[in-house]
Amino acid sequence: MPVEDAAGKEPRTSLHGHWSSRMAFILAVTGSAVGLGNIWKFPYIAGENGGGAFVIVYLFCVFLIGMPVMMSEVLIGRRGRRNPVATMALLGEEEGSSRHWRLVGGMGVVAGILILSYYSVIAGWTLAYVLKSIGGEFAGATREQIGAIFGGFTDNWVAVGFAHTVFMALTIFVVARGVERGLEQAVRFMVPALVILMLILLGYAVSSGSFGAGVAFLLTPDFDALTWDGVLVAMGQAFFTLSIGMGAVMAYGAYLPAETSITGASASVVIADTAIAMLAGMVIFPLVFANNLDPADGPGLVFVTLPLAFGQMTGGTFFATVFFVLLTFAAWTSAIGLMEPAVAWLVERFHRTRAQAALMIGGLIWLLGFGTVLSFNQLAGATFYKGTIFQNIDHLTSNIMLPLGGVFITVFAAWIMCRNSSAEELGGAGRIYSLWRLLARYLAPLAIIFVFLKAVGLLPDFAAA
Ligand code: PHE
Repeated sequence: MPVEDAAGKEPRTSLHGHWSSRMAFILAVTGSAVGLGNIWKFPYIAGENGGGAFVIVYLFCVFLIGMPVMMSEVLIGRRGRRNPVATMALLGEEEGSSRHWRLVGGMGVVAGILILSYYSVIAGWTLAYVLKSIGGEFAGATREQIGAIFGGFTDNWVAVGFAHTVFMALTIFVVARGVERGLEQAVRFMVPALVILMLILLGYAVSSGSFGAGVAFLLTPDFDALTWDGVLVAMGQAFFTLSIGMGAVMAYGAYLPAETSITGASASVVIADTAIAMLAGMVIFPLVFANNLDPADGPGLVFVTLPLAFGQMTGGTFFATVFFVLLTFAAWTSAIGLMEPAVAWLVERFHRTRAQAALMIGGLIWLLGFGTVLSFNQLAGATFYKGTIFQNIDHLTSNIMLPLGGVFITVFAAWIMCRNSSAEELGGAGRIYSLWRLLARYLAPLAIIFVFLKAVGLLPDFAAA
């Protein structure tokens, strides 16, 4: 059904064009969802938060909070067909509320910029690891040598800064060209290839001798090991990994053809994303235990476990190269989603070309990125609140801004928008619609607020955690 504005006039269209098909949209959102969050971040924060119980909370958040938030974001995006700031203002007015809802879009724009500022640095690491792989640096290396390669690299802020610069240039390039060309192709090939490679690694992990211990760590819940702060981190990760809460999915939804099922598309993305994260965990943790590494090793975890595994495999140099190339691609398609809300906003609001907007936003992000570059060397000791600059940006965005964005987005879609508008976008008021509405009206916002209050200690300790 066509998307009409309130007066029932012309179907609304997006200034930036539309996805060529339903598949293109699913691939784009999957490309944005599957990234460093699945392969780099998920294993290391699961490791830092004790494994099994964390994973259960994470899965709960993905399906019961993440899924309704994602559907809300897409439906808002498609209805407004503008950048997240303008869409929220427009729909706020149209639904009889207020244009001030644009602030939610604005918070998303800022969150995207902040996240990409560190995301690009880690993506730079993967880029550098492509070269290290090609150079055969991991072949036959011991645990100590692999650790020294990682430490030596991240200590060198010039090298890390350079890699970050190259990655930002790649991202600016694609965003400047527009979302349709280039991106679709990359994802079409990247996601399946990444899964195949992960399966090969899984085979290696199974034969490494500690598969049982690794999987047990990932799947056996020990709720004593989980704090409310850990629950907040799990919830933040659910948002981060699904790319929700900051308008990326809303921006992509604006380019979605009217007839595509939002529920079906969201479900495909959520399942694919979760499967890849779990697969990554099942590859990483057996390797952690087989090599006597510490699961709570932090951001370096995959950059140590996987090279170690590749170094022992026949054909390891080849597989390592392919793996880090794919991971770079995965990061690239996510980085584009992180920039899109800001760029679409600049283009629409200040009538810039996409190229100008991408350069301006990209330049700002590049600069901010040095906060993270230096967090692993020069400024590693300059810690406050949650730790380094990197740790604070990560905490502020993933654990606060994204879930908060999720509260506003679900409240808007399920409380402010009238039933007719949301039902029209979600393909009629059937059973799935009622379930979405129930989750988006009550469960998602209340659960998020509850976890917030628990994590900052504002709720009494009726259950020990
Ligand atoms: N979902 C991406 C990942 O898991 C990160 C991301 C967050 C991308 C928000 C876009 C928007 O790596």
